[in-house]
Amino acid sequence: MRIALASDHAAYDLKAGIARYLAARAIPFDDLGCGPGETVDYPEYAAKAAERVQSGACDRAILGCGTGIGMAVAANKFKGLRATPCWSPFTAEVSRKHNDSNCLSVGGRTLGLDEALEIVRIWLETPFEGGRHARRVDEIKALEERNFKP
Ligand code: RB5
Repeated sequence: MRIALASDHAAYDLKAGIARYLAARAIPFDDLGCGPGETVDYPEYAAKAAERVQSGACDRAILGCGTGIGMAVAANKFKGLRATPCWSPFTAEVSRKHNDSNCLSVGGRTLGLDEALEIVRIWLETPFEGGRHARRVDEIKALEERNFKP
């Protein structure tokens, strides 16, 4: 599984910690920024990562901003992205089991690094449950088609 990793300045340190975590476990990832000391606008970085997932260059994305909310809102504008802000082990687990999350979003101002890494671990390791949840995810995909305006 290859991960697209991106954050704004508010989650730069968290992103760096997540990059170290992934590297230590030999999980391939593309660090799409931002860089140290930069102040950036999060939608641009959500887009960089979402496009990697859309194109198939990466399988999933991990995003960070102050709260994890703005990045998820932006990533969810991209068809096929199911970006889930997660703030606890439980939300990370259910985002995978029920929502088939392919984009985790975490908050640099709301989580410590250890908490975030536990969320990342659970999100990476938890499979989608399928069954009735697959039907609901299919309904989300149908909404993407219904709302598509060229
Ligand atoms: C940046 O200051 C902050 O607004 C951003 O990181 C994020 O929290 C948006 O959702």
